[in-house]
Amino acid sequence: MAVERTLSIIKPDAVAKNVVGQILSRFEQAGLSIAAAKMVQLSQADAEGFYAEHKERPFFKDLVSFMISGPVVVQVLEGEGAVLKNRDLMGATNPKEAAAGTIRADFAESIDANAVHGSDSATSAAREIGYFFAETELCQRTR
Ligand code: TYD
Ligand code: MG
Repeated sequence: MAVERTLSIIKPDAVAKNVVGQILSRFEQAGLSIAAAKMVQLSQADAEGFYAEHKERPFFKDLVSFMISGPVVVQVLEGEGAVLKNRDLMGATNPKEAAAGTIRADFAESIDANAVHGSDSATSAAREIGYFFAETELCQRTR
């Protein structure tokens, strides 16, 4: 399987719960490496642009409000099959449907405050990584 990069965001609910380290540990234990990371307070325009694909969905306004309700930790994860591996570690969007032992099952309260974001495809990952990081900010971790 090819080495890939994916974008991960630890959302405001998980940052507020002080479980950033526990979530990052899960990525590392699964064989993913952190190629870039920063803690940021997103602006409304940042959040709207990031989630532009959901602009017409009924939950869009609440999603944007939630994503700007406190700081987030944005990371680029790197490793074999990183996109799918991260989605598996995250669990289903709705924590009530997330498999036992996944990040959302263990740390998320509800579908709208669900602890983490992860790119859903290699194409999304490329756009999302470029949205938050310059190429020069990405560190090569696996080769
Ligand atoms: P989506 O991309 O479908 O889920 P995922 O984060 O698993 O890729 O939706 C983006 C976010 O929008 C999701 O993490 C939480 C929010 N959301 C809701 O609040 N209500 C919903 O019904 C859905 C589908 C998503
Ligand atoms: Mg998604």
